[in-house]
Amino acid sequence: MPLMRLDKMLADQGVASRKELREIIRSGRVCVDGATETHPERKLDPTLAAVTLDGERVGYRRFHYYMLDKPVGVVTATEDRRQRTVLDLLPAELRRLGLFPVGRLDKDTSGLLLLTDDGDFAHRVISPKSCVKKRYYAEVEGEADEQDALAFSRGIVLGDGTRCLPAELELLGGGRCLVTVMEGKYHQVRRMLASRGKPVLALRRLSVGGLRLEESLGPGGFRELSEQDLCTLFKE
Ligand code: URA
Repeated sequence: MPLMRLDKMLADQGVASRKELREIIRSGRVCVDGATETHPERKLDPTLAAVTLDGERVGYRRFHYYMLDKPVGVVTATEDRRQRTVLDLLPAELRRLGLFPVGRLDKDTSGLLLLTDDGDFAHRVISPKSCVKKRYYAEVEGEADEQDALAFSRGIVLGDGTRCLPAELELLGGGRCLVTVMEGKYHQVRRMLASRGKPVLALRRLSVGGLRLEESLGPGGFRELSEQDLCTLFKE
């Protein structure tokens, strides 16, 4: 691992801004390998050095990965002048990490949204070539049936002629169903169901690959993903 400045290493972990960190380090609150370090420009290998702030160990992670239970009414964007975004749901130290949403959920869709600062990871999750399945719970007007399930399995052609990859529709009864897709076209699940005359009333993403939404997080709740979670996501 190339050497890195101490203030950058701490800033990359979302501890504080680079400017704030220069003050924090100069005031003697940071130790490197057990010794107080007051030089923000001190170079270190972040994977080897033991860095503490006020006695608390600050571990180094090159990239960051979070799951969020996106509530209805929040837009999937990093910033918006008028509306609350998914980034607004995070505390300041996480907003500093440069996280962005992996793919997009509509304002009216709730459920599992991944946030990361790792572009390659995001691409791998989104690209249909990776075959990462996205599973949704939907409530529809009317009742989806076996004919709809068959049409989904053959690949729905949307009203504008867009052809979707084969998808899975599981019928739960009572106007409820599960939809599994491997791509993320604009309003895809809503448009697929609407094309069968079953407009969506509510939509919630339950899983991405093998990774399931942790329902105990609650709307707006989030948590960091472990290495194990990332393996689970791609292992499906
Ligand atoms: N499909 C949709 O129609 N909306 C979403 O938010 C996600 C998938």
